[in-house]
Amino acid sequence: MQTIQNKLYLGGISAEKLIEDYGSPLYVYEEETILDKFQTLHDCITYPHKRILYAIKTNPNLAIAKLLQSKKCGIDAVSPGEILLALHAGFSAEDILFTGNNMTDAEMDFAVKEKVLLNIDSLSRLEKFGKKYPNKSVCIRVNPNIVTQVHQHVITAGPKTKFGINHDQIEEVKKIVDQYNLNLIGVHSHIGSGILDPEKFLLAMEVTCEIAKKFDSLEFVDFGGGIGIAYKPEEKNIDLAEFGQKVSQYFEKFCQQYGKKLTLIIEPGRFLVGESGYLLTKVNTIKYNGARKFAGTDSGFNHLIRPTMYGSYHPTYNASNMQGEIEKVDICGNICESGDLFARDREIPKIKEDDIVAISHSGAYGFAMASNYNLRPFPAEVIVQGGKAKLARKRQSINDLLASYGVRFD
Ligand code: LLP
Repeated sequence: MQTIQNKLYLGGISAEKLIEDYGSPLYVYEEETILDKFQTLHDCITYPHKRILYAIKTNPNLAIAKLLQSKKCGIDAVSPGEILLALHAGFSAEDILFTGNNMTDAEMDFAVKEKVLLNIDSLSRLEKFGKKYPNKSVCIRVNPNIVTQVHQHVITAGPKTKFGINHDQIEEVKKIVDQYNLNLIGVHSHIGSGILDPEKFLLAMEVTCEIAKKFDSLEFVDFGGGIGIAYKPEEKNIDLAEFGQKVSQYFEKFCQQYGKKLTLIIEPGRFLVGESGYLLTKVNTIKYNGARKFAGTDSGFNHLIRPTMYGSYHPTYNASNMQGEIEKVDICGNICESGDLFARDREIPKIKEDDIVAISHSGAYGFAMASNYNLRPFPAEVIVQGGKAKLARKRQSINDLLASYGVRFD
């Protein structure tokens, strides 16, 4: 992003022009940021046998998937829908790992039919898989019991989580693997999302590797995603060079003990796409409630639920007045709930009606978690690069939305 003559520019185009061309509200992604992030992460891990799987749940936009596919990224998929989208984007079945939570028989059969490797996260599913598909290759997700300091909704390890096969159930895993002659080629863990303290990630890595040592047929160890991004001004990004070095050194040492050079896998989502994305929304109503000023927009938590759901802070700009006098304002949406706030008491250059507000760091879990709540259609998505914009998903029309409710206009 850039500021030119008091206006916000994304990928070389002003936010106001993007809204003029594509309408409001609008998701905008800067291609260069995604590519930079991918490259930085790829380069910081010096261990040579590595694989980055994009956690496609973060942002399943097809154009973004294709962009990452062109960089030889793989995919962490959590549903048949994500598998199908990834295959459509050009990923091959071997590029995809299916980490289904509370997987159904139908989902298991679907993944096997598509030749996608399953990452199984319960003893019960492992048993069902073994019974139906003896001798097949498989990966297991373990819970390494390392709890991170992240929002409680996104902690995925430790005693209170539904994820993974518990670290103390490995002997049972072995029994099932032996009974059905399964080829256990991978061990996986994912302890949580939004991690800005790499020590916990490294600790989880150690526990996961200890578990991995108990199996002699492995080809890879997958340490999941979770690398955070700094949303709040006082937050600091992880020192990636140091992180990459520590991860690489540890894994190198582990492989020596294991006696084979395994593939190191990580599954970032937020880190790759979070900072690339902006939700642009037009202010249509300025209102005062006592001294409190509300800037009412044409979007809402139906399009970006993170502030409402997790109390998340997103850096927010007045794209029409980047450097004006600062005031305190509540920036809200048009959804019929008081929790529909993008920002409370935000200090931002003065906002007036028809200004465009840009909610930054919205590329991860933004559109992906959007809904049609209040029967409002999804916004369009565009990708910008070098002064050019490409429509990456067209705006949902009210007719299309209502058609899915059985309403016909003909
Ligand atoms: N791998 C697995 C198995 C996951 O469950 C996730 C995210 C990832 C990788 C990618 O994690 P990341 O690198 O993005 O932290 N909606 C929440 C985040 C939910 C994360 C779900 N799992 C949010 O908006 O903060």
